[in-house]
Amino acid sequence: MILEYEDYQFLGAASGQDGLATVQRERPDAVLLDIKMPGMDGMEVLRKLHALDETLPIIMISGHGATATAVEAIKSGAVDFFDKPLSTERVIVTLRNVLKQSELVAENRDLKIAMESKYEIVGQSPALRTVLESVQRASPTNATVLLLGESGVGKELVARTIHRNSPRAGQRFIQVNCAAIPEELIESELFGHEKGSFTGATEKQVGKFEQADRGTIFLDEVGDMSQKTQAKVLRVLQEQEVERLGSARTIKVDVRVIAATNKNLEEAIDRGEFREDLYFRLNVIPIVVPPLRERRDDIPRLVQHFAKRTTEEHNLKPKRFEPAAMDVLSRYRWRGNIRELRNTIERLMIMTPADSVRVEDLPSDIRNTESSAAPRTPVAAASSETASTGAPPKAEAQAGAAGTLREFKDASERAYLVQKLRENNWNISKTAEIIDTPRSNLYKKLEQYGIKQEVDG
Ligand SMILES: Nc1ncnc2c1ncn2[C@@H]1O[C@H](COP(=O)(O)OP(=O)(O)OP(=O)(O)O)[C@@H](O)[C@H]1O
Ligand SMILES: [Mg+2]
Repeated sequence: MILEYEDYQFLGAASGQDGLATVQRERPDAVLLDIKMPGMDGMEVLRKLHALDETLPIIMISGHGATATAVEAIKSGAVDFFDKPLSTERVIVTLRNVLKQSELVAENRDLKIAMESKYEIVGQSPALRTVLESVQRASPTNATVLLLGESGVGKELVARTIHRNSPRAGQRFIQVNCAAIPEELIESELFGHEKGSFTGATEKQVGKFEQADRGTIFLDEVGDMSQKTQAKVLRVLQEQEVERLGSARTIKVDVRVIAATNKNLEEAIDRGEFREDLYFRLNVIPIVVPPLRERRDDIPRLVQHFAKRTTEEHNLKPKRFEPAAMDVLSRYRWRGNIRELRNTIERLMIMTPADSVRVEDLPSDIRNTESSAAPRTPVAAASSETASTGAPPKAEAQAGAAGTLREFKDASERAYLVQKLRENNWNISKTAEIIDTPRSNLYKKLEQYGIKQEVDG
């Protein structure tokens, strides 16, 4: 009556045997268990229930003066016990706490599983194995690591893995996106500032380097730092100390640096955009994370991994991939690398109505560009014709005109962007979302390649 009055659903069982069967059938959130019962007594039921499900919270109900039994029950895994006669207040409070507690335990377990699988590096291809070997060697040291690779290949994942396997794992991992911070804020972001050190500095701010003290700082998109920032960062790396803006005091910091970029830094140095001395500081242990198309063997495994994760995250029914569909996925070009693959699989798991994913379910661009994924076509002899002819620029068409690898990459990227923009009616936000790049980056590319919206007719 107490429980029903409190809006709990309540199931009664007249004996231990009956209780066991009810638990197995109904999977309750908690059990109130009498000790003295005919047939199987409460202690035995407790042990049996525990063997069935270790996490099921069981509260014993003991008769007058059975304290010794109650203690024994707690030792055998009961979470609490009530004396008869039951106090309404105590039943309600205890039950509420017990349920809250098991909710937290369940949540915690789910989070842990989610975290573990989130940070799992999936794949066994030789190319990836080389990366993992470097990770293993670099992790226990304090050496600076420079992660190189295209967008979406897993640089951040590798950086986190190094930190988690390092002696600094118990300390913080601080990520700084060097490209996203406006030039005029970067110093205060990295080094912090004192209250009142500049207009707008209404509060003291501790910089990223200080936050990362004794831990790891991850300088992401390091190739996009301004000259001024490069000079500042170089100084911290040399001196291992920072000064907050508006403070004369220097603060010693002990940070392990991991940097990442999708830029070719050596070319940036040649163009005078990146400091060579900073490059040498960062490039102690370079780890190149190869693009997905150079480790296609990993694709089926990655597909399964992301499918499972999406299913769990969104409470979906598992789906299988038909071999032909898996084949198409394995041969696609994946310019956005693993991030693009992950997004595609998530979308498929959510949007595909049937139990299995067939070729027809795949997005049309993945199905259609399938043949161009295999780089079998030799590059045609350079012609004076460039992409300015009216036909939609296919990567292959432009590749013919491209002399250097750089030119080829640029031409392909340009063609890809134009194609995607067209598909999305030149809606920049939408396109950026679909190709999974920040809008700012897309704008930058449009400017870089001089892409302008085509007007119909
Ligand atoms: N081997 C892998 N196994 C499982 N998941 C991976 C793997 N590699 C990358 N991922 C996942 O792919 C996504 C993109 O990876 P990440 O953000 O690390 O790439 P990145 O190289 O930092 O890209 P960008 O240069 O665009 O910042 C993340 O969700 C990451 O967890
Ligand atoms: Mg990244």
